[in-house]
Amino acid sequence: MLVAMLQMVVVAAGGGKWDLLRSNIGVSAMHMQLLNNDRVVIFDLTDFGASNISLPNNRCRDNPKDLALQHDCTAHSVEYNVASNSIRPLFVYSNTWCSSGAAMLDGSLMQTGGFNDGYNTVRVFKPCNDNSCDWQEFSNVLTHRRWYASNHILPDGRQIIFGGRDRFSYEFYPKTSGADLAVELSFLKDTRDPTIENNLYPFVFLNVDGNMFVFTNNRAIMFDYVRRVVVRTYPTIPGGDPRNYPSSGSAVLLPLRISSGAVVAEVLVCGGAPKGSFTSANNGNFVTALNTCGRIRINDPNPQWLMETMPLARVMGDMVLLPNGNVLIINGAAAGTAGWGIARNPVLTPLVYRPNNQAGSRFEAQNATSIPRMYHSNAILLRDGRVLVSGSNPNAYYTFTGVLYPTDLTMQAYSPEYLDPQFAPLRSNIVSPASHSQLGYGQLLTINFTLPQPTINATTLTISIVAPPFTTHSFSMNQRLLLLTTSNVTSLGGSNYQLRVSTPNSKILAPPGYYLLFLVYQQVPSPGIWVQFK
Ligand SMILES: *[C@@H]1O[C@H](CO)[C@@H](O)[C@H](O)[C@H]1NC(C)=O
Ligand SMILES: *[C@@H]1O[C@H](CO)[C@@H](O)[C@H](O)[C@H]1NC(C)=O
Ligand SMILES: *[C@@H]1O[C@H](CO)[C@@H](O)[C@H](O)[C@H]1NC(C)=O
Ligand SMILES: *[C@@H]1O[C@H](CO)[C@@H](O)[C@H](O)[C@H]1NC(C)=O
Ligand SMILES: *[C@@H]1O[C@H](CO)[C@@H](O)[C@H](O)[C@H]1NC(C)=O
Repeated sequence: MLVAMLQMVVVAAGGGKWDLLRSNIGVSAMHMQLLNNDRVVIFDLTDFGASNISLPNNRCRDNPKDLALQHDCTAHSVEYNVASNSIRPLFVYSNTWCSSGAAMLDGSLMQTGGFNDGYNTVRVFKPCNDNSCDWQEFSNVLTHRRWYASNHILPDGRQIIFGGRDRFSYEFYPKTSGADLAVELSFLKDTRDPTIENNLYPFVFLNVDGNMFVFTNNRAIMFDYVRRVVVRTYPTIPGGDPRNYPSSGSAVLLPLRISSGAVVAEVLVCGGAPKGSFTSANNGNFVTALNTCGRIRINDPNPQWLMETMPLARVMGDMVLLPNGNVLIINGAAAGTAGWGIARNPVLTPLVYRPNNQAGSRFEAQNATSIPRMYHSNAILLRDGRVLVSGSNPNAYYTFTGVLYPTDLTMQAYSPEYLDPQFAPLRSNIVSPASHSQLGYGQLLTINFTLPQPTINATTLTISIVAPPFTTHSFSMNQRLLLLTTSNVTSLGGSNYQLRVSTPNSKILAPPGYYLLFLVYQQVPSPGIWVQFK
């Protein structure tokens, strides 16, 4: 009751709009990745019995290791085409349950691990525009099982893969040699709660010095994976409550502002479920989720968590970096925790967090949806600035009746306030470079653009680049946003303008691969273009 009242009070402030894109995409969107052709690869696990979409051409999947349906003529992965708002079923053979991944230098999605016959598998999906591409699978290539692991792209273009259920190690993929095996990392074991793991899907971020920031359960380290040493340990997050799966808070590396000085790196961890929630929920007691975020400057000499209070408690939220550098916190529930049927009180109201506002005035509640997005739901940024929202299946198998939160196959778009028609006069369009241009590091890039205005205030203009993350279980792996320094904004007459922007000068700041590049004017982003750093 209190939660409901609170929602009604705070909902008035913000904006944003919800649209139902499709009433049925055939699968529940447990994992999502945006590709550089504006198509989204979506997949669930494979042994959930029949999904709601058939494989094409009367194809079936005969997998004797499938725990539910060994002869299965339905698809467990689909490709969503943003431009045509259409779905194409894909064929995945081995079990992708609770896996991880990232997009690689060439734009392919490289996905790792899963469950059962998928524990040590790597799967690659190379984008195509003619509907001919599908998953390729490579079995027994990972050294350790990777089930609930987290990945990140490294400056050398490989992925580093941390943890997973009962695996206290990391490894790289692709392997550089046969001897490139997994390496133990005791921190992953030390943060494992004896009763319930609480250290799965670790929050991992590439620091601006090339080391990896690794947060699991309620604390973090800075890890040098080259020398294999922990170079720093951080204080426990105040309150000591766990934030990782199944306590499932979420986390982002806040936007990195690239200027001539040192780049400040800050991590923001929000929500989760208090210690003991999993056990309580399994006994029918749905404990209120955490309403706190911890924010920390990870390279300070004496880093401390700054705690902030969200207007709403939330577990299983998704944190999405928006092109203007704000953080959207969306999806999830206000009580219980991640797991089959053990959360209650869906949180239908997204929040926007403005990192540069004064502490105490950073959160703003936005317009609510009516569709609960509980366990196994998902949210990702699209090139046009909308946020794609799908998934929610807190049930074993696809279950549409007789449960509190049925399997949800709908797909929505959340359009943040900046897409509101009233901001159209501030919406720029990038004329050049062309989408899919290759960019170098430390380069002065000229951008031609239009803005439906006769004058421009250059101080309110930024270029942001965003790496499209692999998202599952409330964590967006490899999510990274850089704000670049612009100069020499000039008018070319009419609504035409030009500016120069310095690209990041290192692969540590921006690991190679495809990024979305946006021009942001007075907080309103242009449609993005794809650029490739290599
Ligand atoms: C969203 O919220 C704004 C501001 O509160 C309101 O004016 C608008 O009508 C809402 N839009 C929708 C689609 O609900
Ligand atoms: C999907 O669900 C609809 C409606 O429940 C049903 O009519 C259809 O047969 C299902 N399709 C598949 C492939 O399961
Ligand atoms: C950008 O605009 C300038 C000035 O109009 C023009 O000379 C130049 O060719 C444009 N660049 C591209 C790549 O279109
Ligand atoms: C440009 O924007 C800045 C920041 O909002 C503001 O302080 C300044 O007054 C503006 N300049 C003009 C000429 O409007
Ligand atoms: C910006 O413009 C100034 C004055 O026209 C010029 O001296 C400078 O070289 C330009 N800088 C860049 C980065 O183009």
